[in-house]
Amino acid sequence: MDGVLVSTEIYHFKAWKRLTETLGFSIDEKFNENLKGVSRSVCIDLILKHGGLEKTQEEKDVLAAQKNEWFLEYVNTEITPSNVYPGVINFLETLKQKGYKTAIGSASKNAPLLVEKLGIKKYFDAIVDGNMITKAKPNPEVFLKGAELIGVNPQNCVVFEDAISGVEAAKNGGMFCIGVGSAEILKKADFCINSFTQMSLERLNELA
Ligand code: G1P
Repeated sequence: MDGVLVSTEIYHFKAWKRLTETLGFSIDEKFNENLKGVSRSVCIDLILKHGGLEKTQEEKDVLAAQKNEWFLEYVNTEITPSNVYPGVINFLETLKQKGYKTAIGSASKNAPLLVEKLGIKKYFDAIVDGNMITKAKPNPEVFLKGAELIGVNPQNCVVFEDAISGVEAAKNGGMFCIGVGSAEILKKADFCINSFTQMSLERLNELA
């Protein structure tokens, strides 16, 4: 969801960066690639390691809550349906018309709130979010659960992903994976697109 359907990854980055600055260091976009697609608690561990810091679990929980408060502040003040990426609604509408099953597989605990706020809930048959999984991407749990909920064999699923860990999760689950973003970064994807404006049902059937 974040960074694939909607441009919410920029708010996660902004909030994580703000958090690191309170800890006396900073993160850049390159490091942020590691935070995409992974759970809030794993992000905290990656960030602390990056800054060479050690914290107790209680301190980590406080940091995670602070990051989420800032993220929600950005969501509540800045997000509108215009944050849905170009081409996404058209493609989802076509999939629905043709009877394809669709699911969101997100590491984010905020996924249900965001799909509601952005008005895209109606396009999905299932939503698997960070509250429903125990193993972070690249473990395929999130996608396997989505496949199970929509009743589709993993080999017949196509995953769209913007995160390195997410592409690996899709491949670990035996699914075809279309990377949304740079092929240089999403090396393990079966194919990459820059935007859903490049996607259509015809194109999908040619690829997968
Ligand atoms: C979490 C992480 C965020 C990551 C996102 C992926 O979301 O915080 O860094 O990019 O999942 O969708 P959260 O549960 O905090 O919303």
